[in-house]
Amino acid sequence: MGETNSIAVGLTALSQLLKREKARGSKTLLLKPETEEALHTLPMKLMKAVTASSGSAGEIVNEKAATMTPSEVERSAGTGSSVVAQGGDAGSEKWARAELNEIFKEAKNCEECRALGTLRDQIVFAVGNPMADMMFVGEAPGAEEEKERKPFVGPAGRKLDQIIGATGLKRDDVYISNIVKFRPKKGDGRFQGTSNRKPDTTEMAASIRYIRREIEVVRPKVIVALGGTAAEGLLEVGGSVSGLRNQVHEFDGVPVVVTYHPSFLLRQEGEGDANKAMAMKRRVWEDVLKAMELLEMPISEKQRGYFL
Ligand code: URA
Repeated sequence: MGETNSIAVGLTALSQLLKREKARGSKTLLLKPETEEALHTLPMKLMKAVTASSGSAGEIVNEKAATMTPSEVERSAGTGSSVVAQGGDAGSEKWARAELNEIFKEAKNCEECRALGTLRDQIVFAVGNPMADMMFVGEAPGAEEEKERKPFVGPAGRKLDQIIGATGLKRDDVYISNIVKFRPKKGDGRFQGTSNRKPDTTEMAASIRYIRREIEVVRPKVIVALGGTAAEGLLEVGGSVSGLRNQVHEFDGVPVVVTYHPSFLLRQEGEGDANKAMAMKRRVWEDVLKAMELLEMPISEKQRGYFL
């Protein structure tokens, strides 16, 4: 099931790429030799995977899992039930949930992440709508996220909820995830308490494959990268948020808007300079307006004026 699903993800991504290129008026497509080779071997892989899965009578299919978010799957894992989600048609919501469950399970066992020894053990995956047009990507979970096993549920998450609310969307309408799926350790992690740190480039490099696959499955129309660290991990660019936020970047064909991390806004508010804090909020709002424009969402005059 995993193999067929990842082949389906690959084919969907390829078909979307071809559609985009057609829409751009491209007549030819240049492929890297490794991509050409991968395409060449695809039919054989697909046949093998289908044969293997049709012969496996022992697989337990849990229908409920197909409608669960990965965090819910994580919670149910302690009940002893085997959780193998049944995929629907490629591109359907059911398929997307099943794919995300697969990615969740693989990320949970990420050997490369464990081998670093710098990340804690509890996975924090993603929440939200697997068919979302808007995706928010942060850097790594903090203490509250680790406790709740959900991204952006602490103070930064409450600030993010305000930002999402200002667009007219709800948290359940968007997809929220992090590049790194485990809370970075401080020291050996034993006396860390609630103290957090940003992930480093090695931790992000070990984890990037998971967010890449989440993006392939959700296929959002726009990604909002929250903070310089998330932007660096996702786009492999250096530089400050102020330098990155005035352009629309791209990740695997999806437009990416970079903005300040909600924790940065909270720090600004805490520093007591109300004008500076308001100016930063306004900048974040301008970036979110840009994301809304890319989605062709209706924007009211009132919304345009927020935080002025
Ligand atoms: N900061 C992040 O980048 N992600 C979270 O989930 C929480 C705080």
